[in-house]
Amino acid sequence: MTTGTESSDKQLQKKRDLFGIKFLRAFYRLVQTVKTHPDNNKLLIEYAKDFVGFVALWCKDEPHLTIQISRGRFFLEEQKLHYPRETVYLVHEMIHYFELRGVQGLRFYADIKNASFDQVLGFAHVLNDAEKQEDPLAWLLEQRDGGEFPWLEIVTAPAGGQQKRTLERKKIARRTYSHALSSLKEVTQKITTEGRAGASKVKRIVQNMVDLLMEDESVILGMSTIRDYHDYTYTHSVNVAILSLCLGKRMGLSRLSLRRLGICGLVHDLGKVEVPYEILNKPGKLTEEEIKEIEKHPLGSVRQIIKLRASSGLKAKILLPPFEHHLKYDLSGYPRAYRKKPVSLFGRILAIADVYDAMTSPRVYRPRVISPDRTLGMMLKGAGKDFDPILLKVFVNMLGIYPMGTLLRLDTGEVGLVSGTPGESDRGRPPVLLLASDGKGGFKKGKTVNLAERHPKTGAFRRNVKATFHPSTIGIQPAEFLA
Ligand SMILES: [Fe+2]
Ligand SMILES: [Fe+2]
Repeated sequence: MTTGTESSDKQLQKKRDLFGIKFLRAFYRLVQTVKTHPDNNKLLIEYAKDFVGFVALWCKDEPHLTIQISRGRFFLEEQKLHYPRETVYLVHEMIHYFELRGVQGLRFYADIKNASFDQVLGFAHVLNDAEKQEDPLAWLLEQRDGGEFPWLEIVTAPAGGQQKRTLERKKIARRTYSHALSSLKEVTQKITTEGRAGASKVKRIVQNMVDLLMEDESVILGMSTIRDYHDYTYTHSVNVAILSLCLGKRMGLSRLSLRRLGICGLVHDLGKVEVPYEILNKPGKLTEEEIKEIEKHPLGSVRQIIKLRASSGLKAKILLPPFEHHLKYDLSGYPRAYRKKPVSLFGRILAIADVYDAMTSPRVYRPRVISPDRTLGMMLKGAGKDFDPILLKVFVNMLGIYPMGTLLRLDTGEVGLVSGTPGESDRGRPPVLLLASDGKGGFKKGKTVNLAERHPKTGAFRRNVKATFHPSTIGIQPAEFLA
């Protein structure tokens, strides 16, 4: 039995396939007719209009139209095109056409509708002429860079590659996150039961995190949206490690420094093992005595880190930042500082990552959580007093006005999760994964849209943020959708 969603998915696929074939036909007609007809020929102008019309139609919902080949198949925006038997000839002709030019694909942008017919026909001529060149692809790239066709991009990689790499990285990121959680649990348990624990696993995990971070910041940053009410201390520590690493990378720290910073993030709250469970998880207001107990945990962390089986050189480097992570920029906070020496760089980084993650996580004593964007707003009020103003600025820049994992209600009535960071020219408008009802009271992934997308006719943004709210208010884990 097929469900309504399945059949609507199939219908969407059919519509997409039909569009793809129509577009290929329009493309074929244009490049063939331009060979035999003068540029002012009426039929040719009709064909050029048709071609532009298809791109414009597609770009109403998408930022661009990419037609790409891979292993003898056509892909429309990385999705394989299925076509009826009667169009096999057309498809093969077009694949051959692309191959002769060494082109893996072409990407068209909505601005093509502002191009003159001369420019569109010029593009068809250039594409045809490429075949006669010694190195067609290099020649085409040169023509493209000449600026005649700002709405065109030449794709040089086969379809499927990028998507595959991102998927692979997401898989590794998920695995690394769960390894980080389990090794941190193991270390904590060993320290409490045996009084000692090896640090090699933690070191290896952080090394993996740094490798991932260097390859793709957004994948690992997406993982830091994991919130686990029951496993708070562990998920919080892994998130603090990730956020600190991302901030450290932005500050230009070396790989070696990042490795140390990541370990600091993972172990910064280790001292909480010394705080009675009832106090840590007390739902109501804490007494003064209890607050004092909690405030002992940074020093506790130092005591626990000393118990790790690691070289004294490494331990000496990772003791201070966990000790300082609740000290504020102006040296207020705890443990009370009797010194004038400023908080170390790692300590200042940890403090920012720590407060951000703690405030955006639901806790027993704070069932109402604060959305990531509001958290950043509140933290900004403490710039120069609670937090290092420069580091905080970089942190806010890194996460964007709407950090990944923020749930948005849009003026279109849609609900979406911020799924990435905005591009340089996107004016702080991030990509958003739309959420659709799964019919069982929950949500499922919809398509990803970009808030920077504009309406081609009016130039106004297609979607605007109406309100933000915390994912836990509708019981979802952003990381499940984002990774
Ligand atoms: Fe802490
Ligand atoms: Fe913490």
